[in-house]
Amino acid sequence: MTIILPTPANIERAADAIREGRLVAMPTETVYGLAADATNGRAVAAIYTAKGRPRFNPLIVHVASTAQAAELVELTPFAQRLAHAFWPGPLTLVLKAQPSNGIADLVTAGLGTLAVRVPAHPVARALLLACAKPLAAPSANKSGRISPTTSCHVAEEFGAEVAMILDGGACERGLESTIVCCVENTLTLLRPGAMSVEAIETLLGVTIVRATADPSAPSAPGQLLSHYAPRAAVRLNAIDVKLGEALLAFGHNVPETRGPVVNLSVTGDLVEAAQALFAALRSLDASGAKTIAVMPIPMHGLGEAINDRLVRAAAPR
Ligand code: TXA
Ligand code: MG
Repeated sequence: MTIILPTPANIERAADAIREGRLVAMPTETVYGLAADATNGRAVAAIYTAKGRPRFNPLIVHVASTAQAAELVELTPFAQRLAHAFWPGPLTLVLKAQPSNGIADLVTAGLGTLAVRVPAHPVARALLLACAKPLAAPSANKSGRISPTTSCHVAEEFGAEVAMILDGGACERGLESTIVCCVENTLTLLRPGAMSVEAIETLLGVTIVRATADPSAPSAPGQLLSHYAPRAAVRLNAIDVKLGEALLAFGHNVPETRGPVVNLSVTGDLVEAAQALFAALRSLDASGAKTIAVMPIPMHGLGEAINDRLVRAAAPR
């Protein structure tokens, strides 16, 4: 399957493919998404098949504007304020679905709620406008694997089942969107992500409840414990490197090793580390090391989302 540049002609080709019910991989500011027309049940089914994704795990619907989102979901007052402040951007809101909103049942796995976001990436926006459809798009990786932050990562995992990959370079944020459930009057964090929780709490002046991380009853059904998994085992909070291990480093106090090393941020910058995380896991995995040792990463700001991904990458599979 071909990687194509997002020229106006190619955006039109991609929009045609979407309208024909085919899958198109598109860059977003967070990670690459595997997009299909969210109103076409067969197209949405093809996403689940291509990813090997369990059918009970619902998808995020991407739209071009808050007005388009309001046609699909009931925007509560909190949701309206969040949308006004942070859309377009890496924030997904889970809301009550509008009756007969045209979204294929398979998108929501029968939950009665719908996850929506307005992406900021110019290529995703161009595709949304050209096809004039809401786009269901999970991250463009096989289920349970590391999310893709370049078009090459996508090409490594899919073949003819994807019509084309729009190339938008490396994703600026590198981590998936933050997911907040706004159905009740309390706001619940379903997934930490590229938008820091502190920014949301500061805007609204409320505390966001963390969903309990009970893997047997996930509140974001996709938040299964083992996820983002490289082939290698992952050892967290490493302060040394054992023989044969690769090292995922952070900061300048790096333990001595002769094995492969990728440093997420020499200066200890969590924004830079988030952007680099998934590509770093992929490259250390490709080194063939049996285990990736990961240095401790602080829990503040984007550290919460980075640690969430690393804990899942290290979970028993
Ligand atoms: O940044 C992102 O959000 C990327 C890009 C492509 O937009 N997409 C993404 O999609 O990460 P995916 O499918 O990998 O993760 C979607 C998450 C899953 O954990 C799923 O369970 C949750 O969103 N989700 C979707 N609809 C939901 C709903 N109605 N209620 C609760 N969780 C929902
Ligand atoms: Mg994903």
